[in-house]
Amino acid sequence: MPQHTRYTGLIEHYRSRLPVSPTTRIISLGEGNTPLIQLENIPRLIGKDVKIYVKFEGLNPTGSFKDRGMTMAVTKAVEQGSQAIICASTGNTSAAAAAYAVRAGIKAFVLIPEGKIALGKLAQTLMYDAKIIQINGNFDRGMALVKEVADLAPVTIVNSINPFRIEGQKTAAFEIIDELGFAPDYHCLPVGNAGNITAYWKGYKEYSTYAPGLPAVVRGRPIMCGYQAAGAAPFVEGAMVDNPETVATAIRIGHPQSWDLAWNVQKESGGWFDKFTDEQILAAQKMLSQHEGVFCEPASATSLAGALHDISTGKIPEGSTIVCTLTGNGIKDPDIAMQQCADAKPVTIDASLDAVKRAILDNM
Ligand code: F0G
Repeated sequence: MPQHTRYTGLIEHYRSRLPVSPTTRIISLGEGNTPLIQLENIPRLIGKDVKIYVKFEGLNPTGSFKDRGMTMAVTKAVEQGSQAIICASTGNTSAAAAAYAVRAGIKAFVLIPEGKIALGKLAQTLMYDAKIIQINGNFDRGMALVKEVADLAPVTIVNSINPFRIEGQKTAAFEIIDELGFAPDYHCLPVGNAGNITAYWKGYKEYSTYAPGLPAVVRGRPIMCGYQAAGAAPFVEGAMVDNPETVATAIRIGHPQSWDLAWNVQKESGGWFDKFTDEQILAAQKMLSQHEGVFCEPASATSLAGALHDISTGKIPEGSTIVCTLTGNGIKDPDIAMQQCADAKPVTIDASLDAVKRAILDNM
């Protein structure tokens, strides 16, 4: 008889490694357990002997990796008696906060930069019935305001400065090791507020079988590569950026909260930061969709843009195993997708068999 076990989210799955007790009420939407997809066509296309996997976090319940952190943060907020949560967001955190708040039966307040979050993220946050507060300022300003208001009002901050967010997000590294049997040589991530790179590193370190001198196959720690958008690259500039700008609105952040933690990841892992133009990011997004059938949002494609660049220069050598995290789903940002495909207009024809047949034969 096959064993039937229903997957009920990452807290249940990794319970012993997370700060919950047997009586904790778990707030979950079945997040985590996302696919690790090996790219088949792109390595061939670039003519390099590398194994590239993408961890498709866009397949979480609200369409981004934020669900991993939010299941933990909201579970703990509720356990501690909180009636309301608050966050600043470039769109994904707000969607996740809103969804987990309704699930828990508490209120969510979200501060977003007016006009600077992708349409899908706004739509879903509205549908989840959050109180949306738009500000005429960017994410960094929103973050500063959230930190100040949390001292004055009874709300729990669920941005990644909340340590439970990091606890939840570290489970993505556990899943990768569970699937591969070892850690990749390189792990590539888009970096904005820098919570996720911090979380992955924590996860790899905790799950690791690493000890100096062990053969590579049981290696537990990758080299961490943090990639930013050129117009919002404080880790590459080595200083905060006051007016960040990029088409990848999810990572339009100039004052990352996890500044010291992310530098520590870079140093401990022997990794690096780099930046890529909007054109490079969009090209990677399109390449992934058109050659692998994987549609991520622009910010997410920064990880692949960076990996492909570093593979081409040899900084990531042939023979390497690489994981790129695709942080969010492509359908969250339909405006950018339509712009990316502006030349590929649908054909309109007569609703007749002959016309359909002609449309097929003309396009074979
Ligand atoms: N990719 C996506 C799709 C994101 O939404 C974010 C962050 C990142 C990457 C960067 O991750 O901040 O941990 O370095 N989005 C936050 C938000 C800021 O409000 O949704 P990070």
